[in-house]
Amino acid sequence: MAKKAIGIDIGGTGIKGALVDVRTGTLLSERLRYATPEGGSPKEIAAVLRDLNSHLPKAAGLPVGICFPAVVKDGVTKSAANVSKEWIDLDADRLFEKELKRTVHVLNDADAAGLAEAKYGAAKNTKGLVVVVTLGTGIGTALIYNGKLIPNAELGHLEIDGVDYESKAAYLAKEREGLSWDQWAQRLQKYFGKLEAYLTPDLFIVGGGVSKEHEQFLPLLKLKTRIVPATNRNSAGILGAAYWAKKHTTD
Ligand code: BGC
Repeated sequence: MAKKAIGIDIGGTGIKGALVDVRTGTLLSERLRYATPEGGSPKEIAAVLRDLNSHLPKAAGLPVGICFPAVVKDGVTKSAANVSKEWIDLDADRLFEKELKRTVHVLNDADAAGLAEAKYGAAKNTKGLVVVVTLGTGIGTALIYNGKLIPNAELGHLEIDGVDYESKAAYLAKEREGLSWDQWAQRLQKYFGKLEAYLTPDLFIVGGGVSKEHEQFLPLLKLKTRIVPATNRNSAGILGAAYWAKKHTTD
């Protein structure tokens, strides 16, 4: 089994990458960060990846995992909630492989964050159902059952009060509407309350940049399920993507 892999995390504002020790979940290189091109078209993002890749270790056969904010089925991006619509039904594995000239494995960004928590973080050795929720530009969700990922859960788009609730409860909504922690927590209460009613999880993990301020909002939520912040914050996508690539590579 490969011990090292490259993880790349494509987000709405930044594209980050590093070399990862996949046994321990630690970064073995500096974390490189580039701004995501305005509009986020496939061609422009692929060009940024080529640049980023040229600054990462070149060892032949090093697995490369890339996470992206969309449903990803067999390397094909199938949705585009907060990114260019050009990604819908695009063979992202092939696009990036052409650009980077190496084999890659693309997966959903919240799934990568979920894997990072399951393998190296707050869900390590947790039995039962763990629901990882990332609060950022959108709401990403990952379902982990007995340590295994059930890919492409898109529970950020639950319809509540007649709207796609991502538009109300994502961190972007708090920023956009200037909500206080208390006001935002009321929306999160509604959202997590629904998830709890539908799934009866054993643990909720909250990720995304805002999770470093978890003390401001997690204590305001009244749920039956334990809810904790993610332990892998800025690097969650990188770690999960690297782990995913390793898992799909035999050596
Ligand atoms: C997308 C998900 C993604 C999440 C977080 C949502 O809008 O539909 O695929 O995981 O945002 O980026």
